[in-house]
Parts: sequence; C-alpha cells; structure tokens
Amino acid sequence: MKASCERGVCGACTTLIDGAPVASCGVFAFSLDGASVETVEGQGSADDLGPVQRAFAECGGFQCGYCTPGMVMLTTALLREHPEPDDELIRSWISSNVCRCTGYQMISDSVRRAAELAREERG
Ligand code: FES
Ligand code: FES
Repeated sequence: MKASCERGVCGACTTLIDGAPVASCGVFAFSLDGASVETVEGQGSADDLGPVQRAFAECGGFQCGYCTPGMVMLTTALLREHPEPDDELIRSWISSNVCRCTGYQMISDSVRRAAELAREERG
C-alpha cells in the first residue's frame, strides 16, 4: 500500500476491504478485525508479476508509478465486478484515482489489457 495525500482524495492507497476498493488512509486498522484486506503486495512480486501488474507494465500504465498500486487494486476490483468493461466504465472507475502525469489513456489501455489477460486465464 502506498500513501500519498493521506486525505482520502488521490486513491494511491486503494486497498480492497472485503473486496471493495477503499482509500485505506482513512481506515483505522482496528476497525478491520475479521475483514478481508487485499493490498498490492498480494498481487505478485518483482520476479513474478500478477496479471494486472503485467498489463500495466506492457501498456505503460505508469509513468512515475506513484498512483500505480492504487490503480492496480482498483483494476482488480473492477474486473471482478465487470470482467468485460467498456471504455466508459473504465474511465468512470479510474476517475476516482489521481494520476498527476495525466497518463489516463495508457492506464485505460492497461485495464483493457488486464481484462484480456484475465480472459485468457479463464480460457
Ligand atoms: S493516500 Fe489515501 S487517498 Fe490519497
Ligand atoms: S503514473 Fe501515477 S501519478 Fe503519474
């Protein structure tokens, strides 16, 4: 998990709590007793990227990388809920997270690629 604004505005700290994307900078750890908590650390490792991370790497979905952990977690939640998102839905979801580099087009491309990879994995 990465912190940035620490005010619930940027989405860099997006974490899945019971499957839902949440700005975790506004959540007290003690309130999560018994909850499922997924952070970007659970997606893969430098030597073994997860499919969403691979998609971001392939499509240049990060420039400075500051927003990337939150975008990866947001994408994970989006694809679980909507495995075949259209462009409008992708834009709507990622608009909640800030990329200061304005790299939203490549982030959208990355989300579409992540959906493709997930489709390939499902067979
Ligand atoms: S660091 Fe949590 S929303 Fe910005
Ligand atoms: S790539 Fe995330 S803030 Fe620019």
